[in-house]
Amino acid sequence: MNIHAFAPASRPGLETAHFLRDSDLSDHELRSLLEVAYQIKIEPESCRDSLKHRAIVLMFEKPSLRTRMTFELAAAQLGALAVFQDHRDGRIGEREPARDIARNLDRWFDAIVARTYSHRTLEQLAQWSSVPVINALSESYHPCQALADFLTIRERFGSFEDLRIAYVGDGNNVAHSLMYCAAQLGVSISVCGPPGFGPREADLAVATAVAEAHGSTVDVVADIREAVRDAAAVYTDVWTSMGWEDETQQRRIAFDAYQINDAVMTLAREDAIFMHCLPALRGQEVSDAVIESDRSVVFDQAENRLHAHKALLMMMVNGA
Ligand code: CP
Repeated sequence: MNIHAFAPASRPGLETAHFLRDSDLSDHELRSLLEVAYQIKIEPESCRDSLKHRAIVLMFEKPSLRTRMTFELAAAQLGALAVFQDHRDGRIGEREPARDIARNLDRWFDAIVARTYSHRTLEQLAQWSSVPVINALSESYHPCQALADFLTIRERFGSFEDLRIAYVGDGNNVAHSLMYCAAQLGVSISVCGPPGFGPREADLAVATAVAEAHGSTVDVVADIREAVRDAAAVYTDVWTSMGWEDETQQRRIAFDAYQINDAVMTLAREDAIFMHCLPALRGQEVSDAVIESDRSVVFDQAENRLHAHKALLMMMVNGA
């Protein structure tokens, strides 16, 4: 891979004070961040200690493997300290209001990385924090995941030109972030799932308009075969996201016809990749054969969380 392939190659800081949703980044900033992440991946030493003597805090209301590990490791490899508050300590706002938490944390830390149930909690932290607040997943968006996903897509295909990806499953936070990022990068996306479980109308409308401005499309497709046919990437996620566990049985029935298996993958492009943000439930949204196949890039996505988070922290905390 040519390290200059992710044009533009500059390392500007970001205009946005916080990273709560994908659209907080301009098109140029998104492409630059992906370029920086890729350069960090191939030259990890290039960013060592670039956040020396800095500190970040991770406030997580929900469990995490990938997001927690990669932010902690990213901080360590950049020379910064990461302090983690366990989700078992309760939700933000329970013991004291988010506006007070933010005004404590910003006296000690250079960034607040938060995983919340309510997106409003993140907005409250951001409203009161003088340091960047980064969305490590909310009920609405998972923008850090989308950064790693599009870094993975770009690595695999060498370009974002003439690509269409299919997202099959729940119209959740991952789907929303994929739609926004795809639209900004000019990648077309087909979103497919059972009636009543599609992406939010407001997010769909905005992402569709952004895609149109970039010569791409956001389509909601009912038929899984139509969505996946000739797609370059087939993406799915668990049918029941964290916080929706009381609907698990209802969702198993509703999503039964939407499993990604060999028969579905056969419809995609010959060089199509299979993507999943993980954790996955084999035998539900994806067959064991597909997630273990050569087409599967799920562990590349997981690795790329680290490189994307390093780039994000450098650009948000250091401005470089
Ligand atoms: N994909 C993802 O966010 O994984 P974790 O929930 O383990 O952080």
